[in-house]
Amino acid sequence: MRKPVIAGNWKMHMTCAEARAYMEVFLPLIKNTPNDRHLVIAPPFTALSTVAEMSHQTALELSSQNVHWEDHGAFTGEVSPKMLLEHNVRYTIVGHSEPRKYFSESDEQINRRAKSAQLNSLIPIVCVGESNEQRERGEAERVIRRQVEQGLEDLILDRLVVAYEPIWAIGTGKTCESKEANRICNLIRQWVGTPDLIIQYGGSVKPENIDELMNMSDIDGVLVGGASLKPESFARISNYLNA
Ligand code: PGA
Repeated sequence: MRKPVIAGNWKMHMTCAEARAYMEVFLPLIKNTPNDRHLVIAPPFTALSTVAEMSHQTALELSSQNVHWEDHGAFTGEVSPKMLLEHNVRYTIVGHSEPRKYFSESDEQINRRAKSAQLNSLIPIVCVGESNEQRERGEAERVIRRQVEQGLEDLILDRLVVAYEPIWAIGTGKTCESKEANRICNLIRQWVGTPDLIIQYGGSVKPENIDELMNMSDIDGVLVGGASLKPESFARISNYLNA
């Protein structure tokens, strides 16, 4: 049984005060959410302790938005797995298209981050996905397959989430059609060869499309950016309806 993971990625949004106000509205709205799904929020590093404190003894779990492969050292701007564990962080997002694009993150670096996360009992959420140009050139499957093969090398496959996030659908309001998202998630499952692999879809997920996406056979959760910034909308996504 694959237990879906519903994760909100706040990106560079939310001061501690804003996070506190958000949680006050959000937590009551997920009080009765069925426990057939994991609920996760990835705040910026600075708001982790606030969210950790407020979500203590609730169903909400924490993710970071990145993690380094070393325990400590001269790595300005980076955060180690041990620093995250201190804040009760359970998941960590690696390979998101934004650091891939803005900081030229390579699949090799992404793989090192994910391996170090697993060694420290964190669950990496490894993001993969093609750009619009790659899709138009008919290269989507080849690009995703390379990202999967290199990003997942030597990882423990039952302590892992893969997020299929077509770049052209991120923050654009243009969701990938649910059948196409499902087809790619199924391909990823076949390439990896593990039927139990948890595979999320991400890219303009919102209250209006969550039920349809979650009723696809190979989509085991979602990674949500914009629509996770409003507690009411992320609560509706968290409370998706099974068909
Ligand atoms: P979006 O972002 O939901 O705003 O499209 C998704 C993501 O970047 O993970």
